[in-house]
Amino acid sequence: MKKNIILISGRGSNLQAILENIDKKSIIAVMTDNPNAKGLLIAKKYGIETCVVAKTSDKQKFKDDLYQKILFYNPDLIILAGFMSILPEKIVNDFYPNILNIHPSLLPKFAGLNTHSRVLEANEINHGCTVHIVDNGIDTGPIITQRALLIEKSDTPESLEKRVLTLEHTIYPKVIKWFLKNDPIIKNNVVINFKQ
Ligand code: GRF
Repeated sequence: MKKNIILISGRGSNLQAILENIDKKSIIAVMTDNPNAKGLLIAKKYGIETCVVAKTSDKQKFKDDLYQKILFYNPDLIILAGFMSILPEKIVNDFYPNILNIHPSLLPKFAGLNTHSRVLEANEINHGCTVHIVDNGIDTGPIITQRALLIEKSDTPESLEKRVLTLEHTIYPKVIKWFLKNDPIIKNNVVINFKQ
């Protein structure tokens, strides 16, 4: 069976959706950079090992610790689910393309933070979320799949966050299941070959 790790920094609603929808035995650990992440309680509820690599002022030490921990687990897939630190380049170079992220916008539009308020300010018609492979840029890696919604006049950043999260919770587990079943992921006629 494939062994995967999930990296979180906060409340862990995507973590919860993943654990509800895939074989939990395939998740060998939940890692975080935030000792107070609420998602740690979700991991514990499901009996999954947790690992904290706390951010410190010593950025290089944090990067090295994270790298060593990830090498220790040597996962088949690294799943970022609201992980707010940038992965050290060495991790991306060693594990690419087997690193996934979910981002709350229709990439390549609105990479980075505060996507819900930025789409409203830009008077966008659509919004949504994207599952993509992580490369060394910020939200720039190959897109695997997206889900979109129409922005309503009454939408606020808060309502958009809620509506987009519902979409996130359906597509992220789906993509992870494709990976676990070795299903080819085909996007724009290009087959994404994960390392098996
Ligand atoms: C989600 O909006 C996800 O797209 C982004 O960070 C947020 C994490 O939320 N990367 P949660 O911790 O999964 O609830």
